[in-house]
Amino acid sequence: MQPAMTRKILVTSALPYANGAIHLGHLVEYIQTDIWVRLQKMRGHTCHYVCADDTHGTPVMLSAEKAGMTPEQLIDRVNAEHQADFAGFHVAFDNYYSTHSPENKELVYRIYSALKTDGKIVCRTIEQLFDPEKNMFLPDRFVKGECPKCGAKDQYGDSCEVCSATYSPTELKNPYSAVSGATPVLKSSEHYFFTLGACQNFLQQWTTQPGTLQPEAANKMQEWLASDLRDWDISRDAPYFGFEIPDAPGKFFYVWLDAPIGYMASFKNLCGKLGLDFDEYWKPDSKTELYHFIGKDILYFHALFWPATLKYAGLRTPTGIFTHGYLTVGGQKMSKSRGTFITAKSYLDQGLNAEWLRYYYAAKLNSKIEDIDLNLEDFVARVNADLVGKYINIASRAAGFITKRFGGQLAADLGEAPLLTRLQAASEEIAKTFEAREYGHAIRLVMALADEVNQYVDQNKPWEMAKQEGRDAELQQVCTVLINAFRLLTIYLKPVLPKLVAEVEAFLNIAPLTWADAATLLTGHTINAYQHLMTRIDPKQIDALVEANKQTLEPAVTEQAKPEYEIPAIEPTISIDDFMKIDLRVAKIVEAKAVEGADKLVSLTLDIGSETRHVFAGIKSAYKPEDLVGRMTVMVANLAPRKMKFGMSEGMVLAAGGDGGLYILTPDEGAKPGMRVK
Ligand code: MSP
Ligand code: ZN
Repeated sequence: MQPAMTRKILVTSALPYANGAIHLGHLVEYIQTDIWVRLQKMRGHTCHYVCADDTHGTPVMLSAEKAGMTPEQLIDRVNAEHQADFAGFHVAFDNYYSTHSPENKELVYRIYSALKTDGKIVCRTIEQLFDPEKNMFLPDRFVKGECPKCGAKDQYGDSCEVCSATYSPTELKNPYSAVSGATPVLKSSEHYFFTLGACQNFLQQWTTQPGTLQPEAANKMQEWLASDLRDWDISRDAPYFGFEIPDAPGKFFYVWLDAPIGYMASFKNLCGKLGLDFDEYWKPDSKTELYHFIGKDILYFHALFWPATLKYAGLRTPTGIFTHGYLTVGGQKMSKSRGTFITAKSYLDQGLNAEWLRYYYAAKLNSKIEDIDLNLEDFVARVNADLVGKYINIASRAAGFITKRFGGQLAADLGEAPLLTRLQAASEEIAKTFEAREYGHAIRLVMALADEVNQYVDQNKPWEMAKQEGRDAELQQVCTVLINAFRLLTIYLKPVLPKLVAEVEAFLNIAPLTWADAATLLTGHTINAYQHLMTRIDPKQIDALVEANKQTLEPAVTEQAKPEYEIPAIEPTISIDDFMKIDLRVAKIVEAKAVEGADKLVSLTLDIGSETRHVFAGIKSAYKPEDLVGRMTVMVANLAPRKMKFGMSEGMVLAAGGDGGLYILTPDEGAKPGMRVK
């Protein structure tokens, strides 16, 4: 059934940063959005899906410098790579653009000037850490040093990964610039702020409007809105890759101001190509719908800054923000050393089928902000058992007879076919379930129907009919029911499996399927010979994929420039009694594991003869957990236990180093667990 009214819908996915490759985590979002958009289009709605690369900011500027190119060269190269990755996964944007575009610049200026006119922009002098060697102000993440709370080394300027304290970069001890290694100095500078505090009432109303945010997101916003909103710093000082602020030489718009405006700019660019009316979609009383698909980490920007920006610039606000969780692989954060930080490109290069992943993600996604887990064994099992075993098999079981026995012709009359009536009746429920982004539920509905179809095959046994004289008409009818059942399931899976479905359409010799086609059936029609549609996953392919993504930890841009190792000064003298208070013991590492959510920590189980101890050691940057197991080391056995974010730490392992690397201590051969060291 065609929907009563044709909607006009504009959909976006978050704009990926232009300084990194697309990985399977990103794809959770782009595949999820693409499925939703394809559904809308199949349902006959006008739906535009736009995206772009998020090109501005310090990291892109520094990456380009490191690669010996201009930022423009870097973002052009990455744009082409991103587009190839998305195409490989059949993510079909109507426009993929860049925030470094004339349309974006013009819109940013227009919106900024509207906010200014509305009195929402103020100028204030602030003090910030400055790198005197690089001559640049340092974003929090580019200042490193010792945690002011626990003393852990090499912590970022905003939070400590060891004790999870949060602080400002000026509180770090022995701070250094991650760009040059220089010691930063405090310097003042004029910044422009968007007075978010003045938008509190509007945001209170907007975030609680039914349907705008998922309940979990709305609750989170209530927490944020309960305290006074701080003004938002929207300017950055040169050198910065971005748009210069009008009438403020040397000042640039912060990347997060121009990035969401990039949604509009990409659409504007599309309007130019297709002759669409841009203002119809962005005027304050627009009747069109606007949805943003985003990950949970960027909710704050999309549910507070962005609607406020739009509202006070005199534009429409989003109809809905659809937030999803993060991808984990095997229940853990994606990891380069484990080979689970899998890039889109490597997946395709290994010859894996993009639609296996699309199907798997769809089978696991729902409308909540839950993390979704890619379990590689479950991935193989589900794709092989359900997608290939239950769905694809229907076609291969029926098509051979139609081709060989009936010259490809389907029966002219289906007779009574209650199976097909049930399949057709499910059409609206499945569409509504996809629309509500309950993809996992939708897939379960479709697979339950596929089960019914397979039961029908087993009950009617076409292979036996084929052997019996005089049952030709019956055989043709049963196979025609099956081909129709396959066609209906194909309609319902089309948003998820667009490439496969194009092949099914060629096989069935029909025009591209729309959702409304579920109301009709195929009879008397000639189909083409069946060609193999999809293979099963060979688990060896998955092993090869993980192997191909295993990397020894390459330092990221932000960790490049550590200062030369400096010998620290000797601490004040202590007495032998002071020293004897420290009970040092030989310990054997019996277990070593990575700690989920902590990049620096290894969780160690230590045998000290009389007992075992559990210790968190900040040595992940220097050692792979698996290489530590079985090694002997030395620990402080009478250190007061300390409660950390991840559990109790019952002591400390001795290690040399600091800025010059990290080396755990090993006793000479022969030492036994529990021996005292003095
Ligand atoms: N550039 C910003 C978005 C600006 S939108 C105006 C950004 N870029 S990103 O490349 O880091 O992420 C792009 C999208 O991918 C975000 O919605 C982010 O949440 C999502 N994901 C990135 N890694 C992810 C996982 N591991 N799992 C699921 N989604 C993830 O943020
Ligand atoms: Zn700390």
